[in-house]
Amino acid sequence: MDPLWAAIGSFGIETVHLPAGRRPSGWGPASGPAKAAGGDTPAPVRAGGRKAVENGSSALDSIAGVRERLGSCEACRLSKTRNSIVFGEGNPCSGVLVVGEGPGASEDETGRPFVGRAGQLLDRILASVGLDRECCYIANVVKCRPPANRVPSQDEADACAWVLDAQIEAIGPGVILALGATAMARLLGLKCPLGQARAAVHDYRGIPVVVTYHPAALLRTEALKRPVWDDMKKLRRLMDEAGLPRRTGIDAG
Ligand code: URA
Ligand code: SF4
Ligand code: URA
Repeated sequence: MDPLWAAIGSFGIETVHLPAGRRPSGWGPASGPAKAAGGDTPAPVRAGGRKAVENGSSALDSIAGVRERLGSCEACRLSKTRNSIVFGEGNPCSGVLVVGEGPGASEDETGRPFVGRAGQLLDRILASVGLDRECCYIANVVKCRPPANRVPSQDEADACAWVLDAQIEAIGPGVILALGATAMARLLGLKCPLGQARAAVHDYRGIPVVVTYHPAALLRTEALKRPVWDDMKKLRRLMDEAGLPRRTGIDAG
């Protein structure tokens, strides 16, 4: 088996174990499962995003500004049933933005994106190409949980659209990974089957977009592992071509 794919393994969904001493410090959430797996105190890693390269720490400043502007938003009906606004998290100076659909139950409880079962699988998928949460920024199309995890409606996605746009503007990612049909539709306006769209690298305001299946779909359908793996290799190639650091241990190049 391909060693990188072996890193994902069967979706046992425990903590992702990366080699000790390879984790950056000072990035990402202050606490959480990914961080807890870290060993020694590793060297800080340089930011990779365009904005970060051009403007030093301004991505950090402006992502905080977007959060401030959002406040306790009540622009759509999802505000009535949410427990938390799940704004997004990660390294806003990184080169890669991961976009999901919307918070589920665990995310709504914790206020953090992709921390439930699909999120732990996402960690493994990222790790398979030497990426971890701490060198990505992770956000969703809608910031509040749709009741019973239904797909966000068009008017909800529209109401929340400015937030993701402002996050993209603040971060200036070198590449975007769109997870699932909702992210694909929101960023690219595509309504075709995801299986068709993933054949190409797309473009969102000049930023290359790789489209792949949502990790929740992989949890249901094991046969999607192979195409997702192919898409992740595409992402890895784009990042390498753009000189964006992927950083963590598992990947051998
Ligand atoms: N699924 C998503 O699309 N986003 C999350 O944050 C969690 C699960
Ligand atoms: Fe506001 Fe977006 Fe939440 Fe709707 S989903 S209430 S637009 S933050
Ligand atoms: N669902 C799958 O499709 N594969 C697994 O390994 C576990 C759950």
